[in-house]
Amino acid sequence: MPKRLLFVDDEALVLNGLRRALHGMRQEWDMHFVDSGAAALQALDQEAYDAIITDMRMPVMDGAQLLEEVRQRHPNIIRIVLSGQSSREAVFRSITGAHQFLLKPCDPQELVARLGQAFAMRDLLSNQTLKSVISRMPSIPSLPTLYHELTAVLRLEDPSLAQIERIISKDVGMAAKILQLANSAFIGTRGRVSSLLQAVSLIGTESVRTLVLSVHVFSQCDGDSEVAAYLPALWDHSVAVASLAQRIASSQRCPKAVVEESFTGGLLHDIGKVVFLAEMSGKYRDILGADPASIPAMELERLGCTHAQVGAYLISIWGLPVSLVHAVAFHHFPSQTAETQFSSLTAVHAADAIASSNDPSALNRDVALDGPYLDRIGLREREPLWLGFHEEHLVAKAQREPGERKVPGGP
Ligand SMILES: [Fe+2]
Ligand SMILES: [Fe+2]
Repeated sequence: MPKRLLFVDDEALVLNGLRRALHGMRQEWDMHFVDSGAAALQALDQEAYDAIITDMRMPVMDGAQLLEEVRQRHPNIIRIVLSGQSSREAVFRSITGAHQFLLKPCDPQELVARLGQAFAMRDLLSNQTLKSVISRMPSIPSLPTLYHELTAVLRLEDPSLAQIERIISKDVGMAAKILQLANSAFIGTRGRVSSLLQAVSLIGTESVRTLVLSVHVFSQCDGDSEVAAYLPALWDHSVAVASLAQRIASSQRCPKAVVEESFTGGLLHDIGKVVFLAEMSGKYRDILGADPASIPAMELERLGCTHAQVGAYLISIWGLPVSLVHAVAFHHFPSQTAETQFSSLTAVHAADAIASSNDPSALNRDVALDGPYLDRIGLREREPLWLGFHEEHLVAKAQREPGERKVPGGP
């Protein structure tokens, strides 16, 4: 079925340009064009749409106001700003309303790629409520200790990018949000960004400071919430998987971009669990009480989708690179892909399976190595080497934090 798209711009010339540029998509996209925010809201009330693409500067109701209204009234719609303004202030104003920000003139291929990726991930989710929940979420809760650490650094007179990146690379929520912003055209990037250091450098210290301290782009996890009890263990696991995935990719002598993407993929791989914990805690707690190995199957049975699909959908509508979305979507069962060689997905999957095998929290012990996949890409014999990396990591961690965690094979 074609996807229904609504384009909003007060300039007829712009709408005509979009109509012409996207003419080749008319089989897959049912495109409608309106010239104001009011007309857009009226159209959305009358018929169901899959995505809205709006100009920013319009009389009466601007793009930021329109998208905030759409977020409240029609949360399942994918919301994109297509703006002639490169002013960061304008973008900051629409930060909770918009999923992605693109600059005019619109590159039709870029729009087709971004929406195609988001639609493909959304079609995997059969739970309608979850689609709305994910699409409405402006951020993923951050660990309060890391949030405070970051705000303290940002209040320093001259914080370094490395200091900022070091904190963000320990927090799943901050990492995802910073990548969403770095992958927006307003930052001036060509190509997509998977590396956290590159993301922080592109945005710049001053903008990160404004985004965190004034716009409050990150949200702190409420200490009394259901998710707070699970967050530290989930964050520990995410950082362990990120570090191991990075080491595995390095040992394969991959290009630097794949090594960095393996780290980021490892950090974000279980982000869907945070969505379940934050938004459906009662139902999800029941699932977590079962045998850890059956968690993905039970998610599918009881919630209509797995945390891998939920996470992949969230980061796809936020405009993160397709290879990262792919690594998150298939991190439990990479043999479901057609891959025949090492990628960031291989690193994330192997790291997850190895790191989770002796994780103290049952929440994280939900994955096993996908043997047929490793056979297919010809890397089964690397398993002992990768296990060795993890054991070295545990030994180093036990020395840093005595009594924290048992070392495999140890007393
Ligand atoms: Fe997982
Ligand atoms: Fe995991």
